[in-house]
Amino acid sequence: MPALVLLGAQWGDEGKGKATDLLGGSVDYVVRYQGGNNAGHTVVVGDQTYALHLLPSGILSPGCTPVIGNGVVVDPSVLLSELSGLAERGVDTSKLMVSGNAHLITSYHATFDKVTERFLGKRRIGTTGRGIGPAYADKINRVGIRVQDLFDESILRQKVEAALDFKNQVLAKLYNRRAIVAEQVVEELLGYAEELRGFVADTAYVLNEAVDDGKVVLFEGGQGTLLDVDHGTYPFVTSSNPTAGGACTGSGVGPTKIDRVIGILKAYTTRVGAGPFPTELFDDDGEALRRVGGERGVTTGRDRRCGWFDAVIARYATRVNGLTDFFLTKLDVLTGWERIPVCVAYEIDGERVEELPYSQSDFHHAKPIYEYLPGWSEDITKAKTLEDLPANARAYITALEEMSGAPISAVGVGPGRDETVQINSFL
Ligand code: GDP
Ligand code: IMO
Ligand code: MG
Repeated sequence: MPALVLLGAQWGDEGKGKATDLLGGSVDYVVRYQGGNNAGHTVVVGDQTYALHLLPSGILSPGCTPVIGNGVVVDPSVLLSELSGLAERGVDTSKLMVSGNAHLITSYHATFDKVTERFLGKRRIGTTGRGIGPAYADKINRVGIRVQDLFDESILRQKVEAALDFKNQVLAKLYNRRAIVAEQVVEELLGYAEELRGFVADTAYVLNEAVDDGKVVLFEGGQGTLLDVDHGTYPFVTSSNPTAGGACTGSGVGPTKIDRVIGILKAYTTRVGAGPFPTELFDDDGEALRRVGGERGVTTGRDRRCGWFDAVIARYATRVNGLTDFFLTKLDVLTGWERIPVCVAYEIDGERVEELPYSQSDFHHAKPIYEYLPGWSEDITKAKTLEDLPANARAYITALEEMSGAPISAVGVGPGRDETVQINSFL
């Protein structure tokens, strides 16, 4: 099983970091293929908790080579501080590879992220403010700065000047802000160059060789399917492709080489930022999910919006990603509910709808239709096999599997590496 993709099946924060870390010991390369430091992946190893933003979660597994692919947007200051933070905790970061084609997030991208959100007012997306959207916009507009530009001072200067020519007009005339001095940006970026040089590689070449040699390569998505700029709840999305296709464009490894696509699926639903969310709860149950699930953002510290499991979303994720498996996380958080509502379809303008509507207006009006599954009260955090789980927890897993369209191959029963019920092997 040389190449597999692991991605979020909902709106992010499904537990991708834990799932990647769990597999990390058995894989040779872990590759981030999109997004940037908008991600927040919490990994618990023994009594140590790590919060990773830009680095692949595989960096915590000693045998594994972490790779930042061409599809990622890299804030060099965040990268270096994340690396030094891990090194201080004794993690070997020397094997990291960074694509020379990855685009950089510069200080002006973060500035633009913040001023545009303020300008949007009520219509804002609720971004993480990390400069993600503006950096991807520059990439598509062909005025981005790439990692490799750090090593050619005159090209770097030309590109920064060209990008700022236009942006400074917008800053001054539209947002009433002071212009950004190109030379200061160039100096800052050049200051990162030597520290980064040793990590930069032709990662697409390396990864293709690895797959051809039968090495195990794991592509780790950031964000989630419904935050995908093409397949998500646009415009309330991130600016990249977390869905499975993004693993190919964001790494340079073709689709014929991908063997398995695993969707990480929380046993309920959460969302950070603005946008539609049919099963969102505004009552005590929502508060309880937030409290028991510890649903607070790793990147921005914002409370996550919480709601019941939505099978329509899960089916959609199966379809647009070609999922082969699910990893169901946080089942333990549902312990103690007498009955657990699960959204099986929507009601839209008086009609029952089984699949995600393509029309955004319809989705905004979607009301969940619930089925109620019996709950359990036993502590499940020590469970290692399906047989260790109470019958109602097993029935919940089976019901979700039937509704969601792909086998559930693992179930998370706690944040730790070992707190997992493995049903089918991923490798
Ligand atoms: P990611 O962005 O998809 O990596 O997810 P986050 O790290 O943002 O959020 C998931 C949170 O749930 C983290 O705090 C994890 O440590 C935690 N977590 C992951 N799997 C489980 C699980 O099965 N049970 C419990 N209780 N917590 C989990
Ligand atoms: P992980 O990898 C949850 C959300 C933001 C906002 C929207 C756009 O931890 O699952 P952006 O800064 O990307 O332009 O913001 O996307 N968002 C996330 N929500 N988990 C994430 O990452 C997210 N990354 C971005 O809240 O609604
Ligand atoms: Mg997260």
